[in-house]
Amino acid sequence: MKLSAAVLLALVAVQAAVLLAAVPSAQAGELKVGYYGKKCKGLENIVKWHVIKALKANRRVGAALVRLIFHDCFVRGCDASVLLDASYDNPHPEKEAPVNIGLAAFDLLEEIKADVEKRCPGVVSCADLLIYAGRDAASLLSNGHVHFDVPAGRLDGYVSKADEAQAELPDSTDDVQKLIANFARKNFTVEELVILSGAHSIGQGHCSSFTGRLSEPPTQITPAYRDLLNYKCPKGYNPAVVNNVRDEDYGVVARYMPGFTSRVRKVPDFLDNSYYHNNLAKIVTFHSDWTLLTHKEALGHVHEYADNGTLWDEDFSDSLVKLSKLPMPAGSKGEIRKKCSVINHRLY
Ligand code: HEM
Ligand SMILES: *[C@@H]1O[C@H](CO)[C@@H](O)[C@H](O)[C@H]1NC(C)=O
Ligand SMILES: *[C@@H]1O[C@H](CO)[C@@H](O)[C@H](O)[C@H]1NC(C)=O
Repeated sequence: MKLSAAVLLALVAVQAAVLLAAVPSAQAGELKVGYYGKKCKGLENIVKWHVIKALKANRRVGAALVRLIFHDCFVRGCDASVLLDASYDNPHPEKEAPVNIGLAAFDLLEEIKADVEKRCPGVVSCADLLIYAGRDAASLLSNGHVHFDVPAGRLDGYVSKADEAQAELPDSTDDVQKLIANFARKNFTVEELVILSGAHSIGQGHCSSFTGRLSEPPTQITPAYRDLLNYKCPKGYNPAVVNNVRDEDYGVVARYMPGFTSRVRKVPDFLDNSYYHNNLAKIVTFHSDWTLLTHKEALGHVHEYADNGTLWDEDFSDSLVKLSKLPMPAGSKGEIRKKCSVINHRLY
């Protein structure tokens, strides 16, 4: 009995070794613009077609795609680790980290991946697709003002841990010094922290992500806006609320902030420098947004980008490119996944 168990274990081990040897595994090389030009003709247009179609159906998906660039790249580099689902041998992937609350657009990326696999099987990484799709979303939501070429050639990682995501990503309750230290760990400056935070001109957040804001003093949040948020966040519920007050229901704005009704827009989620105006007016959702005003250099940049929207469009584009180049941990191997939510080979 004991013997047969040992034999069985040995067999399993041999099989695992054979499987491992058969897994095409590689280290990512240098990223290049136009990487898929010959490897998968028309790839960037295929991705763009899907993103345009998805945003036409629901513009809110665009914000989710932009956020995914940040949440993938800040954890183990841009390796699509954020896309992996829980599995038998990895029960707690990044997706399950509390800090990843509200992440979305996974289905869209899987749909894009399936189409791309039909045309160019085994060639295009999910990590690259995520950046292309996020770039296209940023461009569409900004009417083309945010635009950049994507250097590609990333590989999909094997590792995805909720603990790691929780440790690496900033929290909405962080104070400015903590945010600065967090971004510095990835070689991002105070200015880049301010630039990238401007992404909060679009999208939404759950009430639980700004619970503290609901009782902050007038020095930190405009009382009328605080009342609006309190109205949107009834006790015992945790709905998502738009980050940008101009995307709010007209009636709600008319009731709480009548001075702002002229700013309410029919088309939501326009990616621009409005975040900086909102921040200076103390009408932003997260404590991590407001806290930028408490740091001299950061505050200077908030004014700078409030004053010049074109400058922000350009600098935000550059910062997203920098974000998209964050590498996997030294020595990490990767693969081209067949499906974005699972690694290719399982040892069971
Ligand atoms: C500076 C530190 C940051 C903190 C603390 C932070 C925190 C958050 C939180 C708490 C949410 C709402 C999640 C929810 O409750 O559902 C959110 C949403 C969002 N964040 Fe950030 N964020 C930061 C930086 C960034 C950066 C660098 C980007 C992208 C460049 C970004 C893009 C977004 C977008 C687009 C949304 C809306 C997502 C959607 O509507 O699906 N954030 N962020
Ligand atoms: C930050 O820069 C240092 C020095 O150039 C480098 O060793 C390190 O790998 C960089 N970190 C990241 C996350 O890129
Ligand atoms: C705003 O920034 C753009 C882009 O850098 C620059 O060309 C322009 O001169 C700036 N405008 C003002 C008013 O400073």
